[in-house]
Amino acid sequence: MGCDVISSAICRDKILAKYALRGAGLPVLDFYWFTRVEWETHEIDVINSIEEKFNYPVIVKPARLGSSIGIAISKNADELKFNISVASNFDTRLIVEPCVQEKTEINCSVLGYKNIRASVCEQPIASGEFLSFEDKYLQNKSRGFEGAKRIIPAPISDETTAKIKEISLSSFKAVGARGVVRIDFLIDQRTNQIYINEINTIPGSIAYYLWEPAGVSKYELVDTLLEYAFDAFNEKSRTKFGAGPLLLQDVDLLSLKK
Ligand SMILES: Nc1ncnc2c1ncn2[C@@H]1O[C@H](COP(=O)(O)OP(=O)(O)O)[C@@H](O)[C@H]1O
Ligand SMILES: [Mg+2]
Repeated sequence: MGCDVISSAICRDKILAKYALRGAGLPVLDFYWFTRVEWETHEIDVINSIEEKFNYPVIVKPARLGSSIGIAISKNADELKFNISVASNFDTRLIVEPCVQEKTEINCSVLGYKNIRASVCEQPIASGEFLSFEDKYLQNKSRGFEGAKRIIPAPISDETTAKIKEISLSSFKAVGARGVVRIDFLIDQRTNQIYINEINTIPGSIAYYLWEPAGVSKYELVDTLLEYAFDAFNEKSRTKFGAGPLLLQDVDLLSLKK
């Protein structure tokens, strides 16, 4: 159910996801990335490269974690060094981006396989400078992420909603996603520029609450995901696998369109 291995892996890695989305001409914030070994052996070079590329504040993230763990805003070089040292406990790949200081966060889900559609948009509500682990999971302890504060539909213009849905559909296609994902956006309030922040796949998000307003219950959503999974399996079964030139023996070349 959900994305295949490659698509899941791309979305799991914030660096690979940025390359894929940017390569498809979709809007992501600029970034600088490095490995933990590079940090441990060339700390000054890493800091210099970040400072050459961005003004403070910047935001440091482990590339493949989530739930805001290890993410911190740095307003100067000392904070940056400290935050990278903390984040490097959680991953071997690290990413730094400019911090959007006045931002609106919007999330939109995409559901589909051969035909895809975008959900209603939501605005998650942060209590501090960014959406923390506490904002996401500890607002209503028995309900986990479901208990997080959010506004549905997001209080943004019809034009921005349409743009976000359009970018969501293009992003889903760009990473080869399938099933359901939740795509998170940052809007810079100073410029109105929309940036894709990340694509959350199963098991990170199933985003059923974004489909309920469209009349899709959580049970129907799971049934639909299963249908897509069977359909994808059948589709994959039509692909021929085997060794080298012998593969062609199984293809009826004469019947193919010229
Ligand atoms: N470039 C940025 N500028 C400002 N805030 C950001 C930026 N990137 C992330 N954030 C904040 O940090 C939160 C967590 O970051 P995110 O990239 O979504 O990581 P995670 O995978 O842990 O959810 C976001 O929901 C947002 O509040
Ligand atoms: Mg997130």
